[in-house]
Amino acid sequence: MNAAPFAIQARSLRREHGEQQTLVRAVDEIDLDVPTGQTLAVTGPSGCGKSTLLHLLGGLERPTGGALWLAGRRVDGLSERALARLRRRTVGFVFQAFHLVEELSARQNVELPALLAGASPRAARHRAGELLDRVGLTHRSRHLPAALSGGERQRVAIARALANAPLVVLADEPTGNLDSAAARDVLRLFEELRQDGQTLVIVTHDDRVAATADRLVSMRDGAFVDDVWLAGAPAGPLAALGGLATGTPGGPTGLDG
Ligand SMILES: Nc1ncnc2c1ncn2[C@@H]1O[C@H](COP(=O)(O)OP(=O)(O)O)[C@@H](O)[C@H]1O
Ligand SMILES: [Mg+2]
Repeated sequence: MNAAPFAIQARSLRREHGEQQTLVRAVDEIDLDVPTGQTLAVTGPSGCGKSTLLHLLGGLERPTGGALWLAGRRVDGLSERALARLRRRTVGFVFQAFHLVEELSARQNVELPALLAGASPRAARHRAGELLDRVGLTHRSRHLPAALSGGERQRVAIARALANAPLVVLADEPTGNLDSAAARDVLRLFEELRQDGQTLVIVTHDDRVAATADRLVSMRDGAFVDDVWLAGAPAGPLAALGGLATGTPGGPTGLDG
């Protein structure tokens, strides 16, 4: 595979909400490089901008300013249509509240992203079968979300996020609605994904999630206040790109287009 060295790069990324007196700088001039294969955990108090950052990185929200690259491609100026297409193919989202389609079975939920991306029904079904097996839910394929436990729902949501073999999986408090046994199952899954080299950005309050990440960033008032590499610091070609661990690289070059 000819993977780009960085899954995500952001420069001076900004997102404001409201105006004048009510203006909130939800994301305030953030610089970020996420090497392909890294698991990044983002923590911080409620309201510090974690969800907004995740939405910006995945193209669910548009930045007010700054620049964003996914797999080396500049994406902040894309049209709605191009952005939607990119999002479908390159990003998998996992939300605290699962956001499964209640009328569809587990398997149909997992098939959906592949179908939307243009896969044949047969290919989508095959892929969904593999992914449900991977998250240990083959026996729940035909169940509607309402018939599943919280942990099972989140595992279906993770399978769905993987449907199009995304460049990056973005997870927002993925264990936030789960009891501790279910959270453990979900964490184990993320750990497997990490070991498989899946690029992951996980927003979390859960110390156990943070402990399995390669890198831990803390946010306050829309900005990074701490950035710790816990493990998996890149060596060889990645390190040679320079400045990775300091968070102050010279800036993306030659990555546009
Ligand atoms: N759609 C919105 N309209 C207005 N303010 C918003 C909106 N979304 C988020 N905010 C504000 O932006 C800040 C960051 O929110 P958020 O990214 O949800 O933080 P977190 O996920 O860390 O709790 C908060 O002050 C929040 O109130
Ligand atoms: Mg949030």
